[in-house]
Amino acid sequence: MLRLVLSPLLLGALSSIVYAYPGFHVALHDIHSYARRQDGIGNSHSTVLLADLAANGATTPAGETIRNILQNTAPAVVDNSVVYARPDAVAKAGEGGLNSEACRQDACCVWSYIVPAMSTSTIVPAFARDGSVGSGGADGSILLSAGELQRSENRGMGDYGNLVLSWRDEFGAYAGPGGVTVADLIQVGAMVATVTCPGGPRIRTFVGRPDVDDRVPPPADHLLPQPTANASTLVAMFAAKTFTATDLVALVGAHTVSRQYFADPAYAGFPQDTTDGVFDTAFYAETDADVPPAGVYRIASDGVLARDAATQTLWQDYAQPGAQTRWTDAYATAYFRLSLLGVQNLNGLTDCSGVLPQSKPLP
Ligand code: HEM
Repeated sequence: MLRLVLSPLLLGALSSIVYAYPGFHVALHDIHSYARRQDGIGNSHSTVLLADLAANGATTPAGETIRNILQNTAPAVVDNSVVYARPDAVAKAGEGGLNSEACRQDACCVWSYIVPAMSTSTIVPAFARDGSVGSGGADGSILLSAGELQRSENRGMGDYGNLVLSWRDEFGAYAGPGGVTVADLIQVGAMVATVTCPGGPRIRTFVGRPDVDDRVPPPADHLLPQPTANASTLVAMFAAKTFTATDLVALVGAHTVSRQYFADPAYAGFPQDTTDGVFDTAFYAETDADVPPAGVYRIASDGVLARDAATQTLWQDYAQPGAQTRWTDAYATAYFRLSLLGVQNLNGLTDCSGVLPQSKPLP
């Protein structure tokens, strides 16, 4: 228990619980039961370092920030006070700012133009579903590698893919030497999508991912998680990508804003909880119920994770009233990792979190 109390991650989580509750004694009660749950169920995030951070350590400030988040000594959520300001020369250039040399010199500048274009798009929520776990990682391969979009697991992604490619074409000319990569567009899009939903965390956002070399053959089939898989298969698939069962249970909470079309076409368009478009924990409680509420389609793998001995306690933890911040913190930590899988130059990335839209509270 002492180890847990001293953990900066837990302290971070506890302080958010305190802020979430008006009465201190209520908060204290919650802290105690949260600490007990943490201890009892071995609730832990992955701390595995990735790519160049594992090989050479952190050699830049960006690398240090990423390392700290991956190792759970810093939060993955960034608050609304972090706001990007365009360099003066760009601001003064007015309409022409995007096309100025000063903008090209600043890695976040072009993103400060792209993000508003993304935010007004009605299809933004789809980005949260990147193929990272199964494919080559956050390298744009879902759109760039031959055959990726044709995989049955990626059905329905075609329109989103075309939109992403149109942004690359529209904004790429205004970027610095690295251009605007598809890998970054997908991941920044996911972060924008998440924070645009009421209750969605504002997840720290880096740019600078290179795109996959599209001459490299795509990865083998059957690497993407299937809705028909059992829990141990899913846990093993995510473990192979450095995620713990805690991370997996937190990540599938993304289905709080999803709708299914192809798992069962008879229920096309059905959401996975009753609060469609709201990034809340209703999904966990409703998936844990004996039958889904009217109008909700339960993806089989979600039902399995809610009930399997290996994941049930974690699932029920997020199904509890008052779990919102606990879950979004966990989701942000796990998603941050997901957004960097397969990226080899983590020390070379740039933190552009300030370009994200402001987060919105739950309704
Ligand atoms: C256990 C692993 C997972 C399985 C088996 C799974 C399965 C599915 C299935 C079957 C659908 C419905 C697709 C359709 O029929 O249209 C879906 C949708 C979706 N999933 Fe997952 N998923 C998993 C993990 C995740 C993760 C980790 C995320 C994000 C962090 C995610 C985000 C989404 C989103 C955003 C949609 C909606 C897609 C859209 O609107 O086109 N899923 N998932």
